[in-house]
Amino acid sequence: MLLKNLREEIDATLARDPAARSRLEVVLCYPGFHALVWHRLAHWLWQRGWLLAGRFASHVGRVLTGIEIHPGASIGKRVFIDHGMGVVIGETAEVGDDCTLYQGVTLGGTSLRQEKRHPTLGKAVIVGSHAQILGPFRVGDGARVGAAAVVLAEVPDGSTVVGNPARQVARRGPPSETAPVFQPYAVCGDIPDPIARALNGLLDEVTGLRARVAELEQENAGRPPTRDPLAGEHPSLRLVGASAGNGTDDD
Ligand SMILES: CC(C)(COP(=O)(O)OP(=O)(O)OC[C@H]1O[C@@H](n2cnc3c(N)ncnc32)[C@H](O)[C@@H]1OP(=O)(O)O)[C@@H](O)C(=O)NCCC(=O)NCCS
Repeated sequence: MLLKNLREEIDATLARDPAARSRLEVVLCYPGFHALVWHRLAHWLWQRGWLLAGRFASHVGRVLTGIEIHPGASIGKRVFIDHGMGVVIGETAEVGDDCTLYQGVTLGGTSLRQEKRHPTLGKAVIVGSHAQILGPFRVGDGARVGAAAVVLAEVPDGSTVVGNPARQVARRGPPSETAPVFQPYAVCGDIPDPIARALNGLLDEVTGLRARVAELEQENAGRPPTRDPLAGEHPSLRLVGASAGNGTDDD
């Protein structure tokens, strides 16, 4: 069972990080994977009442990886912590299956009371680098939290939130059994990168201009040719033409 879970976690890393090349590389070189192994041990000790041993195992994991997961936190299957340095997951936080967390993420509390005070991430949530999710609320299944967002309130299933304080910029359905649950870096597949987006914008603009030129050609078809080449154009262009003529006189 333990080995099966570990294998699933390694495979999740391979599937979600294009830089990972083999299972051995993940086992040897991925701090996110190491942190989860230490956390499984720490959580096991914590649940059996060996609180100090649990804290110590968690601390060793933190020293080795830079990822701090309280032994009381509940972490689901196939969770992937990429890069990991600076991640902090508090005592009453819950992280659902298939979630992805990037470096610097905090799942933190806002209360000092001994109660549920950290967030709960649903399934397949993606949390961008240095996002801070603070408080005992839920982040819904398939939600995406933008890099550096500060999230202070519940996030509905399938939403994308960005900014400080975080606001919703998009919403789609929660991930289903059939739909893929992971988008690399949480970025939509239909918008590959900013350059492609700019080119798409230019192409739309050119298509619009072509349609307008065709319209104007149709309107002008059949009109007798005029001597003024700027006739029919914008009035300001005609003025430029006229003043150019006047300019010669002034000189
Ligand atoms: C939030 C995120 C998931 C949105 O991706 P997307 O669905 O492709 O959305 P878009 O890029 O079209 O952005 C939608 C809007 O949110 C804004 N936005 C995107 N990411 C943002 C962020 N992190 N902070 C603030 N605003 C952001 C965009 O400017 C855009 O605003 P506009 O509609 O006013 O133009 C993505 O930008 C992100 O932050 N992913 C995390 C990546 C990461 O942490 N990588 C670490 C790798 S080590």
